[in-house]
Order: sequence, then C-alpha cells, then structure tokens
Amino acid sequence: MSKEVILTGLRSNNELHLGNYLGAILPMVEMQKKHAGKYQLNMFIPDLHSFTTPIDHTKLYEQTLKNLKVFVAAGLDTQQPDTYIYRQSYISAHSELTWILDCFSYFGELSRMTEFKNKSSNSENVSVGLFNYPVLMASDILLYGAKWVPVGEDQRQHVEFTRDLGMRANNKFPGLFIVPENNAKQTEFAGRSEAVRIRSLRNPDKKMSKSVEDPTGTITLSDTPVDAAKKVMAATTDSLESINYDWEKQPGVTNLLQILALLSNKPQDEVNSQWQGKSSYNELKSAVADVVRDFLTDLQAKLAQVDSRALTEKLESDEVAMSKVASETLLRVQQAVGLRSAA
Ligand code: ADP
Ligand code: TRP
Repeated sequence: MSKEVILTGLRSNNELHLGNYLGAILPMVEMQKKHAGKYQLNMFIPDLHSFTTPIDHTKLYEQTLKNLKVFVAAGLDTQQPDTYIYRQSYISAHSELTWILDCFSYFGELSRMTEFKNKSSNSENVSVGLFNYPVLMASDILLYGAKWVPVGEDQRQHVEFTRDLGMRANNKFPGLFIVPENNAKQTEFAGRSEAVRIRSLRNPDKKMSKSVEDPTGTITLSDTPVDAAKKVMAATTDSLESINYDWEKQPGVTNLLQILALLSNKPQDEVNSQWQGKSSYNELKSAVADVVRDFLTDLQAKLAQVDSRALTEKLESDEVAMSKVASETLLRVQQAVGLRSAA
C-alpha cells in the first residue's frame, strides 16, 4: 500500500516569519522526525498563491528559492526517502484541476472564508485570485491525496473547505478523491492541544503575517537576532500586571507564552504554570527575547550552510516526480467529469 501523505505549502510573497515557522515549518520538521520513513512528505511553495495580494514581482522568483532554503535550515531532511519539495507553478495540474473544482465550488461558501474577508476588507480592487485561492489550495491537497495538512489556525478553514469540496465531488463521482482528515484529527496528529496562531507583537488581536504593513509586530526569519529581541521587548501587552494564558483578556501576554513554549520545546501547560500570576511582564519578555535570539542565531548559521546546488537538483527532480503523480489524479478527474474517455 502507498504511504499516507503529509503536505503543506508556504507562499513566497515575502520573507518567512516566526508565525510561519511555528505554525507550519516546525510541525512538518517534527513530523518528519517522528514518523521517519512511514509517510510521504510534500513540502512545497505555492508560488501561484503568492500574488493573490499585490507583491513586487521582480522578487518572487528568488524569494521562492530562498524560502526553500529556509526549510532545509529549519531541519527538513530533503534526502529522506519520500520527501518531496516543489514549486506549484511547475506542475500544471494544479491550475488545471482548479478550473474543474471551481465549477463545483459555491460562491457563497467562498464568500464566507475569514481570510478572504480579512484580506479584502480594506482594499478597493480585490482580485478574483484572492477569492478563488481556497480552490487552488484544495487542488494542491487533493492532487496528492493528502490526509494530513499541518497549517496554522488561519488556514484551518481552508482545509475544512477542501474536505467539503472533496466529499462533494466524491458524492457525485464515488471514490474520486482521498480527502484530508478533519481539524480535530489534524491537531491531534500534530501532537498539539490547539492549532498554532502567533499574533502580531504590536497588535495581538491580529495574526503575525507577511502581508501586514506593520514590521515591528512581525519577526521575520531574516531579522538580526538583536533586532528581533528588541521587537519582543517592545511587544504590546496589557495593564493587568498578572501573567495568565488567556487569549480573550490578555492576547499579548498569551502570545508571548505561546512563543516561549514552542521555541523552548516545552508543553504549554508547563510554561503557563511556571509564569502564572507573576507580575513582571519585563521578565517574561526577556525570557522570550532570549529564546528568539538563540533560535534566529542558530537558524541563520544553518541557512548560510545550505548547499544551493544540491537543493536545486532535488527540486527539479521532485518536480518531475510529482508532475507524474499529479497528472494521474488529474486524468482520473478528467475521466470522471467526461473530459476524457473513461478508463
Ligand atoms: P502569511 O499569512 O504570513 O502570508 P502564509 O499565508 O504563506 O503566510 O502561511 C503559510 C503557513 O504559515 C500556513 O500554514 C499558515 O497557517 C501559517 N501561518 C501564517 N501565519 C501564521 C501565524 N501568525 N501563526 C501560525 N501560523 C501561521
Ligand atoms: N493558502 C496557504 C496560505 O496562504 C498556503 C497553501 C497553499 C497551502 N496551498 C496549500 C497550505 C496546501 C497547505 C496545503 O498560507
């Protein structure tokens, strides 16, 4: 039997940040270690997703290669059998399946996507690509029959959408797709008690994001360790003067506790009980600044050592291998919908 697939993608619209690392890259690296050899691992760059919001297109190509290097620096072992890295736009089946799935997706359900509502709320010209991107994401997942999709909390709704769409298609065309597991199972598989959501250090009601115009709230993976530590020390908290893990009442402090637990690889409960009720926010910030500084120093040292040539070779050969897999799924879909003669 073929192995179950774990799959995730990170857009290359900008530098990766701490939220991307803790929400998607680290879980993927941990899963690779934990399940060595038992699963197929697809870690790809959805480069077509990268300009659903406006970007500087002169930087996109290099940013994609740079982000792939970050995967390796973060510990992804690209030499492990059944681990694949690729760029979405190099595998045309992603775009082709998207059109077909568009015709089975509903305007209403896409209009309700929180990310769409957030990203479109303050811009005048909202692209059709932004509206449609969950369908492209569904294609990314369904083409490889991925059951496990480690993503941050913000992307969970899109995984649910993928599941709905896949099951809808399966109702019409029995057995067409392997659909991803539900969100509760995804969290359990990732070995966490809840989905990861790192907030902006400046505005802890919002997620830390590449697309936000607020650089002081986002720690990018290429910030100098000193600058990153400064951002932590300047993080917005509250005036309650008591540390508690509570997203509703104390999102700034809770965000710091979450970063501390994840970067120091300790259970959240343990970290919470260590800090619970203490009054010095400065002490907490210093502890977080220390782990962030150490993390970035280590990551950036590893990044400098990544062998770009070997990475490009692996990338290109994986793109050939994954094109084959994706084309097989696409053909089955084309046959099911009547575009190709039935097998
Ligand atoms: P961004 O929103 O910063 O542009 P992407 O949309 O490319 O980032 O997200 C790539 C991955 O990183 C997704 O799995 C997403 O859920 C995760 N991610 C992004 N921001 C955060 C965050 N603030 N906290 C946790 N995970 C995040
Ligand atoms: N849409 C995701 C994001 O913006 C990135 C992404 C695209 C993705 N395709 C995917 C994540 C497939 C997981 C699986 O973050």
